Amino acid sequence: MNKASAKIVSPNSSIQPVTAVRNLLNHLTIGKLDCVDLVQKYGSPLWIIDEETVHQSIQSCLAGLSQYPNSQLIYAGKAFLCTAICKLLQNYNIGLDVVSYGELFTAQTADFAPDKIYFHGNNKSPAEINLALDYGCVNFIVDNESELSTIIDLAKTKNIKANLMLRVTPDIETQTHEYIKTGHKSSKFGLSVNQIINLANKIAALDLNFLGLHVHLGSQSTKLKPYLDSVSVIAHLAKVLKLQYGLNTNQVNLGGGVGIKYNDNDNPIPLYKWSKSLALELKTQFELQALPKPKLILEPGRAIIGTAGVTIYTIGHNKVLDNGIEYISIDGGLADNPRPAMYQAKYTAELANRINAANKTVTIVGKYCESGDVLIKDINLEAKTGDLLVVYGTGAYNYTMSSNYNRTPRPACILVKDGKAEPIIKAETYHDLISHDNIPNWLE
Ligand SMILES: Cc1ncc(COP(=O)(O)O)c(C=O)c1O
Repeated sequence: MNKASAKIVSPNSSIQPVTAVRNLLNHLTIGKLDCVDLVQKYGSPLWIIDEETVHQSIQSCLAGLSQYPNSQLIYAGKAFLCTAICKLLQNYNIGLDVVSYGELFTAQTADFAPDKIYFHGNNKSPAEINLALDYGCVNFIVDNESELSTIIDLAKTKNIKANLMLRVTPDIETQTHEYIKTGHKSSKFGLSVNQIINLANKIAALDLNFLGLHVHLGSQSTKLKPYLDSVSVIAHLAKVLKLQYGLNTNQVNLGGGVGIKYNDNDNPIPLYKWSKSLALELKTQFELQALPKPKLILEPGRAIIGTAGVTIYTIGHNKVLDNGIEYISIDGGLADNPRPAMYQAKYTAELANRINAANKTVTIVGKYCESGDVLIKDINLEAKTGDLLVVYGTGAYNYTMSSNYNRTPRPACILVKDGKAEPIIKAETYHDLISHDNIPNWLE
């Protein structure tokens, strides 16, 4: 590592947000604010996002990309999105990956530049495609041939040339949970190399702006090699498209998926190293194929926002079973964080209101009516009713995957920075919960 790279912090390699420190009361502070005070003001559970961690994550990724002449960092909105996050991204000139009407609508509401929006998904509806076409030059990442036809037909009715990239399934495995792998042969996403070659004639003949190729291998990936292998697949394909069909691959989007540190034994690729390695590999592979260097796009989500976020819960009742298992209950769980139940995700937690020196093992369970609502199994913790528990690494795929299960309103999500805090998503109320209910007149 040279001197310059030694200074670059990659927050995806630390469990806590970069500003997390204990104050004289032994309370956890984030963004220079006492988490105990924050819970008093905004309620419990509470999602907190540390802006400084987001800032440093973006800088880390951009520093790696600076090794490449032409690049664009985009953020995968599925990790966590709201209008304030769109505004934050715009301050850095960063693009956005959206996958739904709702995500695109959120971006539009925040006046996000359409040419920096990349529209993903394997089943874009006509309504979604129309919204994107009407918004301006949104870039489509096409997943399949039937979707391609719908985009082209709808664009034609509006006299628009659609901007599009093709999503390649490179048949490369990543070491991650089965449910979040996407680059393998039987993935539901994208087209194989052969299918793309078979489609190339049609693409070349259609009235559209062909931008290039996209690949995304999976999420919470911790190994660099599969990424590097995917660059070689893309470069070979780009060569065939050029030589046989005259199609120029001017943009290459290598996806996101770089992992974060949830627990001490996680060893993610530092963001800086990830973006730099991909930049260098793309240069090498396109030079090898004697092709001009395309614009490089990376689209991490989790690694930008994951470790910036924490959830604070209040400890409720506890009990010890006949077999010695001790359950500690919190005032949230499955509805605000379904990841442990969905894919056995593991988290690090501790008390936020005091330092905890425990020598007993307990299991933290949520309050929802599912036996699978176990937030953390076997953690060293001594806690009493009213203590505050902080769970780290909840910035990504918590709010966006949350629900109102058991008719529970979602908690607030606040952004903190340098002693300032403000909700970026307000807490839902019980009135919000019933606001869409309707009683048919024959029941009155
Ligand atoms: C196409 C695509 N790009 C980017 C991402 C972001 O992944 P991550 O949040 O793990 O970086 C995903 C996540 O599933 C994805 O499907």
